[in-house]
Amino acid sequence: MAEAAESLPPVAEIYNPNSPEYMTDPITQCLALAERGPLVWYEPWQAWIMTQMEDIMGCWKTEPLSSDFYDWEFAPQRPPEDEWSNFERAMIGHSLLADQSHHRVVRRVTAPAFSRNVVDNIQAKIEPEIKKLFDELGEPESFDYIEAIANHIPFISITRMVGIPEKYWPEIKKVIVTFTETWNPTISDEQREAARQDSNKAIDIIKEVITERRQAPVQDDFLSTLLRIEEENEGFEEGDIITMILALIGAGADTTLVAQQWTVYSLLKHKDQIDKALATPDTFSNAFSEISRWGVASKMGFARYAPDNMQFMGQQLRKGVMVLMMPHLKDYNLKYYDNPEIFDVEREFNPDVMFGYGPRFCIGAALAKRQLYLTVSELHRRFPNIELAEEPERDPTDHNAIVFKRLLLRTHCG
Ligand code: HEM
Repeated sequence: MAEAAESLPPVAEIYNPNSPEYMTDPITQCLALAERGPLVWYEPWQAWIMTQMEDIMGCWKTEPLSSDFYDWEFAPQRPPEDEWSNFERAMIGHSLLADQSHHRVVRRVTAPAFSRNVVDNIQAKIEPEIKKLFDELGEPESFDYIEAIANHIPFISITRMVGIPEKYWPEIKKVIVTFTETWNPTISDEQREAARQDSNKAIDIIKEVITERRQAPVQDDFLSTLLRIEEENEGFEEGDIITMILALIGAGADTTLVAQQWTVYSLLKHKDQIDKALATPDTFSNAFSEISRWGVASKMGFARYAPDNMQFMGQQLRKGVMVLMMPHLKDYNLKYYDNPEIFDVEREFNPDVMFGYGPRFCIGAALAKRQLYLTVSELHRRFPNIELAEEPERDPTDHNAIVFKRLLLRTHCG
């Protein structure tokens, strides 16, 4: 057995999400990695990769590992409290990610802010913005969907959702886009530090918005709801509000951008399924799971860290080592899906883990699906004959996902 394992090529040779081969065919590498075992050591990232769905769901549900970036062995030193900048205050002191019991409190008290009717309210706010984007686009013969539409959607929907007034948009936009880089393990320390400084500036702006909103607390947006929740709940403070807003931006911006691109691309590759996919928000919800499965856009996974030296899934983990859960490895596995190469927006997903599972299930799932549905429906309403103008070239510079350099569409207008 040991001999057989030794004769296999090193894992980094069969799996490299930054390779050109992965960019055009992630499936072969994902399947090969999953075959190497349930917990595979990945030397280039100094991380264990968890490959099997049952284990990933167990880990999501019972949380034996830490989600706190500062528990990572290569994270910057956790500074003493008297040296905390706004960033540490938000990421350590009130982190959604860190302390599990505080996380539960935050999720419980903020749940009403994410209910279905709140999403309906947010829809009413973002729908006109989406229409405005298309109005500004007009009726060109062809256009780049990423530049003209997709790039604007995450910012519009999150700022509208939270209730950040438009006057702050240009300023906050400059410093918010790098937020997810503050804990990205695959980039340099310098890049992470620059992102941290940007985030500090963003937090200053958010604090200004909060102060302003406290003086005029009437609006029915998310921020006003959070301020009400703060008043009513002892363990929930302004720091939690800032962390929550950063988390929404951090978790909701890149994901949405990738989702926009793949949704438009996959449906235009399977035009016979567009009507079924866009029939209602519910049919789209299922279609989106299929779009994500079919595209296998993910390059990374969800990071956790060993809180101690510990035995885990038959391996000895050193304290602070990263464990990456990679649910996307299952996407073309016959164990989970019949005819995985076939794109079928009515495919059944049971369970559907597109947005995670358990206590850290995605807060923005309903909003993400709704804004995608609205945007892509508007695209097809305005341009019923739209098609891909070219096979889009993939962008090798993105660390997290397979994305396109541009997504040129032909409208057949004019
Ligand atoms: C298509 C887009 C999206 C996908 C596929 C997605 C997926 C996920 C997944 C899988 C998780 C669990 C991560 C983990 O276990 O480490 C998660 C968490 C989260 N998502 Fe999303 N998400 C999307 C969009 C959004 C949006 C638009 C928002 C906010 C407006 C958002 C906010 C969050 C937050 C705050 C968490 C952390 C929850 C917690 O730790 O309790 N997401 N998301």
